[in-house]
Amino acid sequence: MPLQPSTERAAALLPPDSSPLAREMAPGLKSLLVQAVSVLLWLMLGMPVLERIEVSLLPLQHALCIGIIAAGLGWAWQLPRWWLPINILFVPGLVTMNGLGLEPYWYLAIFALLLLVYWSVARTRVPLYLSSHKAWEAVAERLPASAVVADLGSGLGGLLHFLAQQRPDGRYVGMEIAPLPFLLSWLRMRLGSGCYEVRWASLWHVDLQPFDVVYAYLSPVPMADLWRKVQQEMRPGTLFISNTFQVPGVEPNEMVPLDDLHQSRLYIYRLSDVPVI
Ligand SMILES: C[S@@+](CC[C@H](N)C(=O)[O-])C[C@H]1O[C@@H](n2cnc3c(N)ncnc32)[C@H](O)[C@@H]1O
Repeated sequence: MPLQPSTERAAALLPPDSSPLAREMAPGLKSLLVQAVSVLLWLMLGMPVLERIEVSLLPLQHALCIGIIAAGLGWAWQLPRWWLPINILFVPGLVTMNGLGLEPYWYLAIFALLLLVYWSVARTRVPLYLSSHKAWEAVAERLPASAVVADLGSGLGGLLHFLAQQRPDGRYVGMEIAPLPFLLSWLRMRLGSGCYEVRWASLWHVDLQPFDVVYAYLSPVPMADLWRKVQQEMRPGTLFISNTFQVPGVEPNEMVPLDDLHQSRLYIYRLSDVPVI
């Protein structure tokens, strides 16, 4: 079945760039600001106090104090919870790496690698983490015969690969926006069985109409916008499956506890034929 490019109407369906949340300052920028303010606070308030009480700290201890201030500021600024460890460890990480005496090109290489994996996180608020094997199995069990399946944000292509092996009657398509995960899943497809498809594309630019099952493992941020897109584009009777993140304010038709490492759940929504207004 050919996959249609999304129509102008579909493209206008609140992609993250146009959502009110996306118009707020991205958490990455907020975190940088928080780090800068924390360093200033430590230099201007923390260090003079230490001097007065004649306490001297090692560089890593100074860095940890800055990290703790940054975590506090990030919490007060309502940064998502997963930024907390990043805020605590950012300056201590820099100090530690500096102590290792690495050649400057290593920093560049690490930065480039992170950029290729987390390319779009500042905009999409969806980092890379992988569905468990139990999630793959639960999805495979629920596929109708010869289903056309999409994994929105397909990461390293693990789910697609598994489904293509277990259920060769279906057709499997992934969309991935981050370059390195896309490349790795594409290589996996070319070198392996090759019985799934993966595209370097934003999920917001793909029409969901051809799919019988759409799977997403994203974050709480895009769920309301994604649900609107799903309702507008998916056909009645098809399935939208979200790993871990529920659609706010919408009861799933089925909830599947996975008993995996993170005790995740699948939330399964069957599209009804009630028109969306
Ligand atoms: C949590 S991972 C899930 C990976 C895979 N689906 C799995 O279950 O193992 C989410 C993935 O979605 C990708 N992503 C985030 N926003 C996206 C977008 N707008 N379009 C396509 N991919 C996106 C991220 O780069 C990341 O690889």
